[in-house]
Amino acid sequence: MDKIVIKGNKPLHGEIEVSGMKNSAVAIIFGTILTEGKCVLHNIPMISDVTASFDILRSMGASVNRIDKTTFEIDTVNIVPGSAPFELVRKMRASYYILGAELGRFGHAKAAYPGGCEIGARPIDQHIKAFEALGANVVCDDDTKSVVISSGKDGLRGDSVFMDIVSVGATINAILAAVRVPGTTIIDNAAREPHVVDLANFLNAAGADVSGAGTDTVKVRGVSELHGVTYEIVPDMIEAGTFMIAAAATKGELKVTNVIPKHLESITAKLQDMGVEVEEYDDAVRVKYIGEISGINVKTLPYPGFPTDMNPQMGVLMCIANGKSTMREGVWDNRFKYCDELYKMGAAIKVSDGKMAEFLGGASLKGAQITACDLRAGAAFIIAGLAAEGVTEIDNIRHIQRGYEDICGKLRRVGAEIELVSE
Ligand code: EPU
Repeated sequence: MDKIVIKGNKPLHGEIEVSGMKNSAVAIIFGTILTEGKCVLHNIPMISDVTASFDILRSMGASVNRIDKTTFEIDTVNIVPGSAPFELVRKMRASYYILGAELGRFGHAKAAYPGGCEIGARPIDQHIKAFEALGANVVCDDDTKSVVISSGKDGLRGDSVFMDIVSVGATINAILAAVRVPGTTIIDNAAREPHVVDLANFLNAAGADVSGAGTDTVKVRGVSELHGVTYEIVPDMIEAGTFMIAAAATKGELKVTNVIPKHLESITAKLQDMGVEVEEYDDAVRVKYIGEISGINVKTLPYPGFPTDMNPQMGVLMCIANGKSTMREGVWDNRFKYCDELYKMGAAIKVSDGKMAEFLGGASLKGAQITACDLRAGAAFIIAGLAAEGVTEIDNIRHIQRGYEDICGKLRRVGAEIELVSE
C-alpha cells in the first residue's frame, strides 16, 4: 500500500501552481455526454477521480484521448445510455452526473448509486426532485443499489424546481437534465459555487442557454442539441486554499499561482483575521507568516461562505494557533473524523458532535502514523505533517490522490521533505 512520508518543521517557500478544479472537471467531463461533437478540455487535473470518470465514459463507448499534459479530447457521440459499469460508478460521488446528462440527451438514464468520501449522509433526493419536476419517472432500487429514470408519458419539459437544500450536485444535475429539454426550467435556491458557473459556461459554449449561474436562481432554456467545444476548466479553489494554509502552518511564504483570487475570498479573509499576510494579484495570491497566528471562529457554508472542503485544513491551523478557535460545520453532518488522527499528533480538540468542534490552540504537533479517512482530511494531515516536529506517515492515501495532482512533487519544489512511498 502506498503512503506519504513527511519530515516536518520546515517552512515552505516559493511558487506553487494550482491545477484545474476537481469538482468542475468531473461535472464537465460527464457533461460532455450532452454534446454531439468533439470536446477539447484544457486544465484537466491529473487525479484519480478524473481518470475514473474517463474510465466510465470509455466503458460507455466514448473516446477519450490525451492531447497534452492537461488537455483531453472527448467524443461521446457513440455512447450507450445506461451502460456505465456499476462497480466504477460506485467508486466516486460525481458519477451521479451520468443520470442528469443521460436524461438530458436520451430522455432516460440508469446508473448505480454513487460512492464518495464518508463525511455524512449523502442523499440524492434533491437530484430526484429536479428530474421529477421535468416530468421524469425515477425508480431507486435498494436491492441493486441503482437508479432507473424514464420520461413520463408526456415526455420531459422545462418547469420550476425549488431546491429544499442548497446542493452543488443537485443544482448541476438539474442543469444537465434541463439543457436539452423543451421549455424553460427555473432552479431556485440553487448552489452558487464556482463549479456551477464553470459547468454553465461550458454548456453555453457548446450551444446551451443557461443564465443566472452563480446566483441562487438559474434559468435554463432548452435547446435541441449541443455541439463540440473547446473549454478551459477553472483553477481549483480548494487546492489553492490547502496551499495557502500550508504556507501559514509551516511559518513560510508561498505564491500560489493559477488561481482566481475572488474564489478564495472567504479563505483569505479568515487567514487575515488570524494574522497571516495575504496579498492578491490578478491570478495569484501570496501568503506569508508574519508572526503569531490567532485563534478564530469559522462556520462552513455553501459558497460564498467558508468552504466545508477547507474545514480539516483550517482545523490544523486552529490546532497550532495561539488561543481558542471554534469550527461549526454547516454543510455535512460528520466532518470531524479527522480530529481522531490529529490527537495522535498532539492536538487538543473537543468535538461536541459532527457539527461543532473547539480547538484549544497552542499545540506543538509531533509526527505520527496516521490514516487518511477522506480526501480533505488527508490534505489536512499533510499540512499537519509539514508543520510537525519529526516524521509523519500517512496511509490510505488513495483518498488524497482522488483530488490532489502530484501533491508531493508540488510541495517538494517549495522546500518540503515529502515522499510518496510505494510498498
Ligand atoms: N443533500 C441532501 N439531498 C441531496 C443532496 C444533498 O440532503 O439530494 C445535502 C447533503 O447531505 C449535504 C448538503 O446537502 O448536507 C450539501 O451537499 P451537496 O449536494 O452540495 O454536496 P455534493 O454535491 O454531493 C459537492 C462536492 C463536495 C463538497 C460539497 C459541498 C463534488 C463532486 N463534491 O458534493 O466535495 O463537499 O459539494 O460543497 O462536487 C470534496 O471535494 O472533497 C467534496 C466532498
